[in-house]
Amino acid sequence: MPRQHAVYDHATVTLHWLMATLVLVLWLIGTFLEDIVPKGVLRSGIWSAHFVLGFLFTGVIVALLAWRHTRGRQLPVEDPGPLHVLAKATHAALYLLLLLIAGLGIANAFVRGVTLVGPLALPQLGDPDWRRPLTHWHGLAANILMAVALFHAAAALIHHYLWHDGVLRRILPARASSDPAGRH
Ligand code: HEM
Ligand code: HEM
Repeated sequence: MPRQHAVYDHATVTLHWLMATLVLVLWLIGTFLEDIVPKGVLRSGIWSAHFVLGFLFTGVIVALLAWRHTRGRQLPVEDPGPLHVLAKATHAALYLLLLLIAGLGIANAFVRGVTLVGPLALPQLGDPDWRRPLTHWHGLAANILMAVALFHAAAALIHHYLWHDGVLRRILPARASSDPAGRH
């Protein structure tokens, strides 16, 4: 009989994949929008989507962190030793980058007083000269995040396809457990 692996609870799995999807969409918009869509209503509308999704993403990351530190299922270490330390360090780096990007993005959105939806706009706060450095550091942190996330995803795929262990399956939607405190 195949060994049963413990899996994460539904909330952890849902928030993880919602966060990953939002990160990818936000990065694609931020990186390629200005090259692909000419200046005009469509471009500014898609920027507004970046800001609205950005606030949603900030809520998701705060919810994930809060859940992981309270009722979220803690699983036994699947792969102890130096690789466990590396995995923990990668997760900490991901959380730090995610929070940094959200903070810089929100500060930038207020400094610009951006439009969100229809007539709804943020009030312009702070010195408008901060736009350039805030955009620069926000964009740089976003690129570093994508590199670290790629490494993180590659590690998960290596666990699954080369080492045939249960690490990737822990976070796959089909196997999530509805009981945060349970074993399977
Ligand atoms: C993981 C989430 C996010 C990623 C990957 C991301 C990515 C990016 C990238 C790559 C750029 C272009 C930077 C450049 O031109 O150098 C950008 C611009 C920007 N982002 Fe984000 N972003 C994220 C979240 C947010 C959040 C939470 C907000 C706040 C609501 C935000 C607000 C902005 C603003 C105001 C700009 C400048 C827009 C402009 O140039 O008109 N972003 N973002
Ligand atoms: C932008 C994309 C992504 C981000 C920001 C991200 C972030 C994270 C974070 C912060 C954790 C730690 C959760 C915790 O224990 O508190 C985690 C766990 C995990 N992620 Fe991702 N992730 C992303 C994409 C992916 C992808 C594409 C895969 C699979 C190919 C993946 C597989 C996993 C697995 C298997 C775990 C659990 C690891 C363990 O149990 O030790 N992630 N992710």
